[in-house]
Amino acid sequence: MKKTILCIGAGYVGGPTMAVMADNCPDYKVIVVDMNEERINAWNSDELPIYEPGLDEVVKRARNRNLFFSTDIIAGIKEASIIFVSVNTPTKTFGAGAGKAADLQFWEKTARDIIEHSKHDKIVVEKSTLPVRTAEAMRRILQSNTKNLNFDIISNPEFMAEGTAVTDLQTPDRVLIGALETVSGQQAMQRIKDIYLHWVPEEKIKTTNLWSSELSKLVSNAMLAQRISSVNSISALCEKTDANILEVSAAMGMDSRIGAKFLRAGIGFGGSCFKKDILNLVYLCEFYGLPEVAAYWEQVVKINEYQATRFVSKILNNMFNSVASKKIAIFGFAFKADTGDTRESPAITVSKMLLEERATLAIHDPEALKNAKLDLADETGDISYHCDPYKTAEGAHAIVVLTDWKQFQGYDYERIFKSMEKPAFIFDGRNILDHKKLFKLGFNVFPLGQREYSHLTEIEK
Ligand SMILES: NC(=O)c1ccc[n+]([C@@H]2O[C@H](COP(=O)([O-])OP(=O)(O)OC[C@H]3O[C@@H](n4cnc5c(N)ncnc54)[C@H](O)[C@@H]3O)[C@@H](O)[C@H]2O)c1
Repeated sequence: MKKTILCIGAGYVGGPTMAVMADNCPDYKVIVVDMNEERINAWNSDELPIYEPGLDEVVKRARNRNLFFSTDIIAGIKEASIIFVSVNTPTKTFGAGAGKAADLQFWEKTARDIIEHSKHDKIVVEKSTLPVRTAEAMRRILQSNTKNLNFDIISNPEFMAEGTAVTDLQTPDRVLIGALETVSGQQAMQRIKDIYLHWVPEEKIKTTNLWSSELSKLVSNAMLAQRISSVNSISALCEKTDANILEVSAAMGMDSRIGAKFLRAGIGFGGSCFKKDILNLVYLCEFYGLPEVAAYWEQVVKINEYQATRFVSKILNNMFNSVASKKIAIFGFAFKADTGDTRESPAITVSKMLLEERATLAIHDPEALKNAKLDLADETGDISYHCDPYKTAEGAHAIVVLTDWKQFQGYDYERIFKSMEKPAFIFDGRNILDHKKLFKLGFNVFPLGQREYSHLTEIEK
């Protein structure tokens, strides 16, 4: 094989990204390392540590051919000439910048491991999402080596989305590669570009300076989240005015300047990235003395929190102001469909608020039950977890839809209605169900940003 690529961090990004890279580049040896042994064992087993449509096939094709998962970080560093760093960069929870700034301790540790164990020059690629100008700090740390080694730093942020990771990686909208405008920086950039050229058309590979690349990733996430918060804020206005958010979104989306994607109202965005990346952007703006810009972006996160709280108020208001001792069936816990990831899922906020109101929760999700159990492990209250939607809804007073899993649309709601307490409620936090049909079956239906379908009279409400 031509060269060895190492990726430090075998998480939601490192695993799928490197699997697709190895699959498309049989002339490269790709090693993915992680300090988490359990995760590496899972990558080497039949049950991968993360669920992504199509990922099993890609991993099976490349694993032990030119794709290897290992905990031996030192051996990997010694062998590779190109190192992708894909470790987690969570929000800092302590000290200066707590609650907003990125915690770069995992990132810095990898830099120190690289210096300590390197025996020849290397290209270090930032795959993690990082604050703009992180590469400067990295360069200083790496160049402090006393072995006279050269390290080129490249920014190559990842734009894949969970749930569609494999298709996003196989046919990306763009691959972004940023480098210093030095001879060595440009040569390193070309070597990273050569890898992607194995399967990505050249016109989709955008090269920029280092800082533009770092900042573009943060801003792309902020812009995506901003669209969701914008449309969610309007969903609240729709409910007050009898406008319908689906119609408003469709009408807006037909404007080619706006575009139709990411205009679906719901209970809000989740996932490990949007909130952390916006807060990081807010922190950076404050740090660089731009408080007005910081306040603008912070509002995106505030609206997201407002939407989840507003949804719980809607449940309470319509269930006679109490859910105490009532069984609530939660349909969906993952932060979005087609993933088992529950990090920052709005389902966590909604479930905790319902538990505070002393509701009994029955949670159903096709892929996320294991994570849901961990997320709610410290909660007191009556919580059960189910693979079977019919068991989940049996004897429940309400169904609360929190994830846009497609299969929820195909369930037998007539059967579900018969098994529930009456009056039976559905709160569709993702606007995915057929509300008129459910109403005809007897449900009281409460979507987001649309009229409600209720059999209850004003006095009963
Ligand atoms: N999850 C996404 O959809 C997504 C998309 C684009 C970008 N990103 C960014 O990519 C980065 C990684 O995200 P993720 O979701 O894969 O995180 P993750 O938590 O799933 O994976 C990170 C992995 O890095 C490992 N790790 C941490 N420090 C290490 C060290 N010093 N040595 C070896 N292993 C180490 C951890 O054990 C963990 O398995 C983050 O910066 C994130 O913002 C994530």
